[in-house]
Amino acid sequence: MADNGVNKGRRRFLVGATTVVGAVGAVGVAVPFVASWQPSAKALAAGAPVSADISKLETGQQMTVEWRGKPIWIVRRSEEMIEQTRNISPERLRDPQAQAEQQPPYASGPLRSIRPEIAVLVGICTHLGCSPTFRPEPGAADLGGDWPGGYFCPCHGSRFDLAGRVFTGVPAPLNLEVPPHRYESDTVLVVGEDEEAS
Ligand code: FES
Repeated sequence: MADNGVNKGRRRFLVGATTVVGAVGAVGVAVPFVASWQPSAKALAAGAPVSADISKLETGQQMTVEWRGKPIWIVRRSEEMIEQTRNISPERLRDPQAQAEQQPPYASGPLRSIRPEIAVLVGICTHLGCSPTFRPEPGAADLGGDWPGGYFCPCHGSRFDLAGRVFTGVPAPLNLEVPPHRYESDTVLVVGEDEEAS
């Protein structure tokens, strides 16, 4: 019967499929288990920590390195920048104490950094992923007299201070992220790795 033909065909397929699975299983046994979990060299390179030489980063300036395909901003904040950031009224900020987990524990507090003078931020807006513009000049005419210096996102107008804290009244819901990082020396910053990991 036609049905039988179909069923037989199906049965043959199932037997064949079982045999293939069995064969894969047998090959799997021959390969050490750990090997199947080792990332490729390309994957390792893509996720690897990145070292940044900050010796030539001048006060008030920002440099960018790439980590995991993302721009990472490193800013050497001046005393004035630190003061301006500390003096922003908490009511103007959505998460002034950085309670949301947008930074590692060692970068907590209003300045969100290990060293007060060095900010390390993921340069991607927490609204829809545009890259905000570095606007460190306080009182910039187009940003208002009370602008303390920070970042402005050209896509939908989100604003962040020089610690990456988001202001209220803008679409971005969260502070900019702080990536895991550590200092290898006074002048070498490693992004993508913590003290514990190293
Ligand atoms: S992506 Fe930055 S404000 Fe929308």
